[in-house]
Amino acid sequence: MAREVETIGVLTSGGDAPGMNAAIRGVVREAISKGKKVKGIRRGYVGLLAEEIEDMEASSVSNIIERGGTILETARCPEFETEEGQQKGADVCKKHGIDGVVVIGGDGSFRGAQKLADHGINTIGVTGTIDLDISCTDYPIGFHTAVNTAMQAIDKIRDSASAHERCSIIEVMGREAGYIALWCGIANGAEQILIPEKYDYDEQEIVDDIIASLKRGKKHYIIIVAEGVGHSTSMARRFEAATGMVTRATILGHMQRGGSPTCKDRVYATMMGAMAADLLCEGKSNRLVAYKDGAFVDFDIDEALAMEKNISDYQFMVGQRMSIV
Ligand code: ADP
Ligand code: F6P
Repeated sequence: MAREVETIGVLTSGGDAPGMNAAIRGVVREAISKGKKVKGIRRGYVGLLAEEIEDMEASSVSNIIERGGTILETARCPEFETEEGQQKGADVCKKHGIDGVVVIGGDGSFRGAQKLADHGINTIGVTGTIDLDISCTDYPIGFHTAVNTAMQAIDKIRDSASAHERCSIIEVMGREAGYIALWCGIANGAEQILIPEKYDYDEQEIVDDIIASLKRGKKHYIIIVAEGVGHSTSMARRFEAATGMVTRATILGHMQRGGSPTCKDRVYATMMGAMAADLLCEGKSNRLVAYKDGAFVDFDIDEALAMEKNISDYQFMVGQRMSIV
């Protein structure tokens, strides 16, 4: 039976993403506007277990919508993956009068939320991660800002690669998913896009293409590599030795997770955070807020985590066909 909550806890967990602050603000202000109490839980499940919990007012989230990172901080918490940790987390919630929790994070964090729901605490997840790999949603908070940050950095590297007539290998985030690499590859007009889902590790084919492009008079050669493929620095050495084209590797790294969120991330985060608070107010639990087919919707967490998502073959092929000059 639906059980309406009175006090909502909110935490951010896993890798941070631009827009997490806007989502926290959405949760806090929507809940308060409906007469609920809100408590901020610091440092994800680590802070929950350590009882790092504080009251939040509407003013606690003033001047944060434009800020990257997360005011509640985030962490990874191996202890919460154990039955004892999960029971302790639920007990801490009860001790602090928290009967519903909004978890802003990625799929690992939602597995934690699922466990908290199993232990009697209503939970709602909000998708906050720079990787576009959460199956149930067409859009996770943070992706838009992250790809724009990476795209702008790659534009700058491309200027330098052109000036020096070099090959540039640029590694972007995405340990298991190539979405950031694919989007940057298309947006930056890369000659190669190497992603874990599609790359066949045939370096000779790339070497031949670099040599052919040099013969055609190309002044630069841009290769975008997803973190999941990796080895950019050694790849640069091998390509330079095999082609004679000076090759440099740049790993963009965690700069992609920071920065002021774009308008899209701020608006989607606000909507998703508010909707999470609304779902808790309606007595819902074990649900994930997502954006699907043009609408904000919610899914059962178990069903959402079982969904599959694949890189579009067509999008990848178009990305490759754009580099025929
Ligand atoms: P993300 O949420 O960005 O995918 P992680 O996969 O690192 O990040 O997960 C964040 C945290 O969520 C973990 O450190 C852990 O505390 C919790 N978590 C992950 N998987 C589980 C699980 N199977 N059961 C309970 N908690 C989990
Ligand atoms: O936030 C997602 C992500 O950037 C992945 O693409 C990457 O594999 C991971 O986080 C790295 O996280 P960390 O460096 O915090 O362990």
